[in-house]
Formats: sequence, structure tokens, C-alpha cells
Amino acid sequence: MNETIARVQQMLSLEQFPRSSAYDIEWVSENEMGPNAMWLAEFLSEKMQFSKGMKVLDLGCGKGLSSVFLAKEFGVNVYATDLWIHTTDNFLRIKEMEVEDLVTPIHADAMKLPFARGFFDAIVSLDAYHYFGTNEMYLEEILSYLKPNGQIGIVVPSVLKEFHDEIPESIKPYWEPYLYTHHTPEWWRKLWEHSDQLKVEVADTMPNGYENWLLWDKTLKDAGMLRRSGDVEMLLADDGIFSFCRVVGTKF
Ligand SMILES: C[S@@+](CC[C@H](N)C(=O)[O-])C[C@H]1O[C@@H](n2cnc3c(N)ncnc32)[C@H](O)[C@@H]1O
Repeated sequence: MNETIARVQQMLSLEQFPRSSAYDIEWVSENEMGPNAMWLAEFLSEKMQFSKGMKVLDLGCGKGLSSVFLAKEFGVNVYATDLWIHTTDNFLRIKEMEVEDLVTPIHADAMKLPFARGFFDAIVSLDAYHYFGTNEMYLEEILSYLKPNGQIGIVVPSVLKEFHDEIPESIKPYWEPYLYTHHTPEWWRKLWEHSDQLKVEVADTMPNGYENWLLWDKTLKDAGMLRRSGDVEMLLADDGIFSFCRVVGTKF
């Protein structure tokens, strides 16, 4: 391991996420599509019950970081489902991480899933649900794939205060309409509580979510290891509006 990578590995090993910190930062950074999906999955696992053999849908899994994490850490069978990423590429990554017996890559649109209704013991989605799940109807649709008593849990980028029609001056230079998909935990709780199929157990903000997001993007960017443009400038300008929120519920 060269000096830069060793330093980045050390800087991005957080006490808050001991399991994620054990993974090779070079591999994780090559395959990340946003602030470490393993951190997000570890945060979610504090409030979800995963046990060996469970069938878990990882919706919007990207390059499979969270799917590999859940399979390795909890021995669950993961259906790693994504729209933008090719299944063969994900299969190669899954094999590289030696979890091909536990993780099945699937190419599908969240709006048109190819699964049997009532098939999954749990559904997770990390840094993806806001792309398709902010409307009133989507929760009802996705819950149909979950068994009774099964849990659904998401972690998404969030804001401390709803934007409504007022975009803070500080982030106007970085504004993109997709930022309207970022909401508070209270907003998500309300949306999910409209369902009579679900008991919402948790809707909260990740402790140090803003700091972790900035640390991830900035550390990788400074080391020349960030393959996307990242959010460093926007995060520095906003000074703490953005974070991550976690929402977990159990289907009746
Ligand atoms: C920011 S990336 C996050 C990927 C991964 N969860 C991670 O954190 O590394 C968002 C992902 O959502 C997926 N996505 C967006 N819209 C989708 C849809 N309609 N159906 C399935 N996946 C979708 C994209 O393919 C993309 O991989």
C-alpha cells in the first residue's frame, strides 16, 4: 500500500463505522458513487435486523458496495438491483469480493421491478431512494415486495430545513433542481406515515452526517482518488445544511 493510500485509509477509518473501516479504501473509492455506501449501510444496520439467509433487496445499489457489505457482515442474500450499472460489471465486483454465492446482480428500474410480490425479508436503499421514492405512491408499490413483518430502511441525503421555494444564498451557485429531493427526516416520516401498511420506527439524522460527507469527498479529492466531481465546494458553502437521514419501518 503506498503512503497516500495508507493515509487516506487511516483518515477515513471512523470509530462511528468500525465494520466499514475494515474494507480496502482503494477498492471502495474505485467503486463509490457518493459518500461511502458502506458507512450508510452500517448506519442503517443499527436499526434493522439482518440475519443469515434473509432475502434482502438493495435498491439502487450502484456498484454494489452496500450489497457486498451486507452479505459479508450479516450473511444475508442480497438482490443487488440497479438501473445505471451493468449487471456483468457488478458480478465481476461481487466475485472479486468473494460473495457471489450471496449477492445476485439485477438490472432493473425501481418503477418496474421484476420480483414476486411478498418475496423479500427486508428492503434497503442507500443514497438512491430519493431518485424514485419521493412521490406519494411509491412506498405502497415497494412495500408490496416485502413480507409482513419485514423491514424497509433507507439512508438518503437530507437537509436540516426544507428548501420549499427558498434556496439559501450560500448554495445558489451550486444549485441543481435535483436538490429538491433532499428533505428532512420529519418530511420522510410524514410521507411514510401516510401508509397504513407500515409502522415507521425511525426517522433521524446521521450524527456527524455533514462532517462525514465533507470528510469523504474532501479526503478523496485531495488525494486525487475521487472519480466524480464531488460536493466539497457546495458543502463548504452551506456549512451544515446537508446531512444524511435514515428512515426505517416495519410492514404490518
Ligand atoms: C448516487 S448513486 C448511489 C449508488 C449506491 N447506492 C452507492 O451509494 O454507492 C444512485 C443510484 O441510484 C440508481 N437509480 C436511480 N434511479 C433508479 C431507478 N429508477 N431504478 C433503479 N435504480 C435507480 C442509479 O442507478 C445509481 O446507481
